[in-house]
Parts: sequence; structure tokens; C-alpha cells
Amino acid sequence: MQHKVILGLETSCDETAAALVTEDGRILANVVASQADLHARYGGVVPEVASRRHLELVTPVVREALEQAGMSLNEVGRVAVTRGPGLIGALLVGLSAAKALAWALRLPLVPVDHLHGHVASLFLEPDPVEPPFLCLLASGGHTLLLDVRDQAGYHVLGSTLDDAAGEAFDKGARLLGLGYPGGVEIDRRAREGDPEAFDFPVARVPGLDFSFSGLKTALLYKVRDLGPDELERRRADLAASYQRAIVRALVERTLAAAEQIGAERIALVGGVAANSELRASLPDAAFAPLELCTDNAAMIASAARYCKEIAFARYLAIDAYASSAA
Ligand code: KG4
Ligand code: ZN
Repeated sequence: MQHKVILGLETSCDETAAALVTEDGRILANVVASQADLHARYGGVVPEVASRRHLELVTPVVREALEQAGMSLNEVGRVAVTRGPGLIGALLVGLSAAKALAWALRLPLVPVDHLHGHVASLFLEPDPVEPPFLCLLASGGHTLLLDVRDQAGYHVLGSTLDDAAGEAFDKGARLLGLGYPGGVEIDRRAREGDPEAFDFPVARVPGLDFSFSGLKTALLYKVRDLGPDELERRRADLAASYQRAIVRALVERTLAAAEQIGAERIALVGGVAANSELRASLPDAAFAPLELCTDNAAMIASAARYCKEIAFARYLAIDAYASSAA
């Protein structure tokens, strides 16, 4: 048991991922099959298309992970899988695959919350971040400020009242006529633009919450006012200014939350934590490694180390959940 590894599976959105991680947090394999190209022509993830693609990819990604690690299924000690939140049909593919694998191998199963997974991307070798810390989790579905006291969980201090930060990037990219997924595209275009060219408002909501829907509407009006030719000419400036507004909002609230709880460390996780301006804006903070910011299964296997496992065969009836109870 001691030398056995954790097989992690993640299928909550449009990435089909499998990873092998040791009980002490070393990544032996981390395979991510992105469906981004498949969804690009629709400008966003189509749930039914995602589920079908997960079905096709789930076995190949597990095989690929084993191959990369040079291991066989006999060396797996337990199976970890994302149970929610996410697209229900997509989650069910991963959960069913994980149950089938664990059952066939007579192993325990560890259901993992996707958000806990993002936080646990910080607990992996070679540079694990030790709690306590204040954590900003910014992804396509969530924007949360978390008080992380230990590896097993967190306390929510603030969240978004409307769109998630990643969603603001994706919707902004769409308005600017950039590709999907939008965060990476805006990040890239913004490098050639002037972040002070346009003034976008940062919503001021009370407490430690966020709001991004007003910003998106401001961009919509700006794009309309400029017209197609000007948009073409000013695209990089618009991307840079829009990105600046999102990053400012994130940084401001993160620093306020850290001060409020007296946190000495700040850590950032989730797809938006890959943003280059955000990374540059908080030079003293701990960021998840780039390849662990966007969805992956290594973070799910990592979180499993701090979760309750379900003994062999008692997990067959467990269900996935689309949204968190919180
Ligand atoms: O964590 P993640 O892979 O999936 C969710 O759990 O939602 O996050 C995906 C989000 C997308 O909205 C994507 O546009 C955003 O992360 N993202 C970025 C960057 N890379 C990915 N946003 C800003 N800058 C980036 N470089
Ligand atoms: Zn995620």
C-alpha cells in the first residue's frame, strides 16, 4: 500500500484528464486532453458535446498516464475523481469510469470537490505551499476568496455576485472577436496594447465580493461605439484595458481579504491564475504552476490525500453534483 499511487480523474468541464500522483505528492504523470478546439466554433462549451467527447477520451487518457509513468494498474492504490461542481453529464462520465476502475481493481474510491482540487494544486511537490494562507480561486466557473487553514478544506470569505473572472475574460474575448477560450487570447493580445487607453469601471460591491457583469456591459457599449473598423484597429488596446480592470479588481479584493484575516501568505489558483498580468501584479504571492492552473487531474489526486476515501464497493451508488451546496 505504501508504494502505491493515486489515479486521479477529472471531467467536470471540457478537459478530460488523468494523473498519477504518489501519496507524498509527487506527480508521475499528468495528462490533459483539451476539447477547446471542438467547442471553439460554438464560442463556448456545449455540455452534450463535452460529455460525448469525455466518453471517447477517458480510457485513452488513463492509458496515456500509465504509459508516461511506466506503470500498470496494479500499482494503483486508490482512485480519485471529481464529483462536482461542473457539467453534470461531463462529471458522470468521469465518475462512472472511476467507479468501474476502482471496482474492477477492488480499490477504494475518493470523491473530490473540484474547488478543493484547485486549492490542492498548491500542495504538490516540488514546491508545496503550506497553510495557512489566503487563497484566490479564479476560474471559468468561480471567483472565491478562501481562508485556507489546513489542507483538508477552507472557509469562504467572498465570491462573485454575477460572472466569474474567467467568464468575464471569455465573454470579453467574444465581444472583441477573439477566439475561445478567451482568457489566453486576451492575455496574448493585451501584451501589444495600452492598458490605459480605455477607462473601464471596476465595480465596487461591499465586503469581499466581486462583480464583473458591469465591466462586460461597458465593453459591449465601447465596442458598439467604436464600430467594426475602429475595433479592428484598437483591439489590443481594448484587450489590455479590459484585462487591467479585471486584474485590478482581483488584486484589490485579494489584498483586502488578506489584511482582514491577517494572512501572511497569499496564493492564487484556477485558470485565471495563469494570467500574466495578474502574476506580475502580485510578485510576492504563491501561484499554482502554470500547467496546474487550468483543469487537470493531478490537483484532484492531490486533494484526495486529504479527503475521506470510500471502501471498496460502497461507492457504486454515489452521485455527482452540478453545483456546491454553499
Ligand atoms: O480552472 P479552469 O481551467 O476551469 C474551470 O474550473 O472553470 O479555468 C478556465 C478559465 C477560462 O475562463 C479561461 O478563459 C481562463 O480560465 N484562463 C485565463 C487564462 N488562461 C485560462 N484567463 C486569463 N488569462 C489567462 N492566461
Ligand atoms: Zn476548474
